[in-house]
Amino acid sequence: MDTNFDLFIGDMPVKTPIAVACMAGITDGAYIRNVAEHIGLGVIGGYAIDEPTIKAARILSDQGREEFLPRNLIEDLKGQVALVQAGGVVPVINLRASEAGSLVAVARELGTSVIYEIDAHCRQKPMIDARSGEFLLHNPNILIAYVQALKIAGVLVSVKIRAGVAADDVELSRLLWKSGADILHIDLMDYDHTYLKKIRDTSPIFIIANNGITTFEKAKEMFSHGADMISLARQSDIQTLSLLDSRIRQYTHEHGWYNAPKQLCRGGDIRSLAFCCMPVKPCPLLPTLQKYTISPQEFVSMKMEAVAGTPLEQGANTCFGSLAYCCKDTTPCMFRDATLRQAGLKRSVYMDLKRDVSKKLLKKIFP
Ligand SMILES: Cc1cc2nc3c(=O)[nH]c(=O)nc-3n(C[C@H](O)[C@H](O)[C@H](O)COP(=O)(O)O)c2cc1C
Ligand code: SF4
Ligand code: SF4
Repeated sequence: MDTNFDLFIGDMPVKTPIAVACMAGITDGAYIRNVAEHIGLGVIGGYAIDEPTIKAARILSDQGREEFLPRNLIEDLKGQVALVQAGGVVPVINLRASEAGSLVAVARELGTSVIYEIDAHCRQKPMIDARSGEFLLHNPNILIAYVQALKIAGVLVSVKIRAGVAADDVELSRLLWKSGADILHIDLMDYDHTYLKKIRDTSPIFIIANNGITTFEKAKEMFSHGADMISLARQSDIQTLSLLDSRIRQYTHEHGWYNAPKQLCRGGDIRSLAFCCMPVKPCPLLPTLQKYTISPQEFVSMKMEAVAGTPLEQGANTCFGSLAYCCKDTTPCMFRDATLRQAGLKRSVYMDLKRDVSKKLLKKIFP
C-alpha cells in the first residue's frame, strides 16, 4: 500500500515511521539493505571512531562481543552508507566517541546526507572508561557539547539514550532539544508509554521510541503517546518489520495522522490540544493550559489562527461552532461526521488537518 506519512527529518523524507536500531558488529549496510523495503531509517553501527573508543571496542571484541573494527573507518562507512541509501532508507550512523572533535571529523568526511547518532547508550565498562556510551548520560554537559559541535558542523544529530540512567531524562530531553539535537532515540527499557508522554510534553524534539516494540499494538501505544517513529533491534527480522509496516499503513489509510495522540482527558500528550474543546468546563484542559502559561483566551486565539483558511473553520452545527474544537475520528459523533460529509472531507483527511493544527499549536508552545 502506497502511504504518504508526510514524515521528514530536517528536509529528508522518511518513507515509513519504522527504524532498525543498531547492534554493534551486526547492523551494517547489508543488514539494512535486506529489510529496506519495510523501514524508513536504518541505524548502522555502533562504530568506535577514535583511539580510546577503538581500544575499548578491541577489549570488548577480545571478550567475545561482536564489534565493528574496520581497517579504514571512513572508507568502510562510505560503502555501508551507500548500501543503506540504495534501499531508499535514510542512513544513521551510531558513533562512539571520546571527544567532540572525533565526531566532527567523521561528519566532515561523510557530509550532510547522513544522520549522526551519538551513542550515549552503551553500558559496557571499557566504553564508559573511554568517556563514551553511558558516561555521557552521567555527564550531560559533555553530551550537549557533542551535540553542539555536530550542529555547528551543519549535520543532523540523533542522541541514543537508555531511560532511567541520566539523573532526569525529561530535563535531559529538553536540554538536548535546546542544544539543537534533531532526534531523541530512546531505549525505554523498563519504562512504559507514560514515561514517553512526559518527554513528549517537554519539547517538540523528534522521538524514536525503542525496546521490545515488536507488534502493531505496542507501536500504536508509542505513537499515541508521543513517538514520531519506533525502532527495533533484536527482532528486526523481515517478517516482523513487514507486518508492522503493513499494519501501520493500513491504519494510516483508514485514519490519517499515523501517530495521533489520545485525547487529553484519556491521557493524551500535549499534541492532543488539537482535539480539545473550548476551555469552558472543569476538565484536564485548564490545568494543562496553566502549566504552559497559556490563558483560555490565548488558547481560543491559537486554535482559530491554526484553522484559519482551512476546512476546519467550518462546523456551525458542532458543539463549539467549529471543527477546530472537535474530537478524534475514533470518538463517535454524528454532528462532526455530518459536517465532514457536507464538506466532502474523508475522516483520514480530517485527522491530517488536525495534525497540521497540532504542529501549529506546538510551534507556539515551544518557540
Ligand atoms: C547485540 C546488541 C548490540 C547493540 N549495540 C548497540 C550499539 O552499538 N549502540 C547503541 O546505541 N545501541 C546498541 N544496542 C541497543 C539496541 O539498539 C536497542 O536499543 C536495544 O536492543 C533494545 O531494542 P530492541 O528491544 O528492539 O532490541 C545493541 C543491542 C544489542 C542486542
Ligand atoms: S477540553 Fe474536551 S477533549 Fe480536552 S480534556 Fe477537556 S473534555 Fe477532554
Ligand atoms: S460536535 Fe462531536 S466531535 Fe465535535 S466537539 Fe462535539 S462531540 Fe466532539
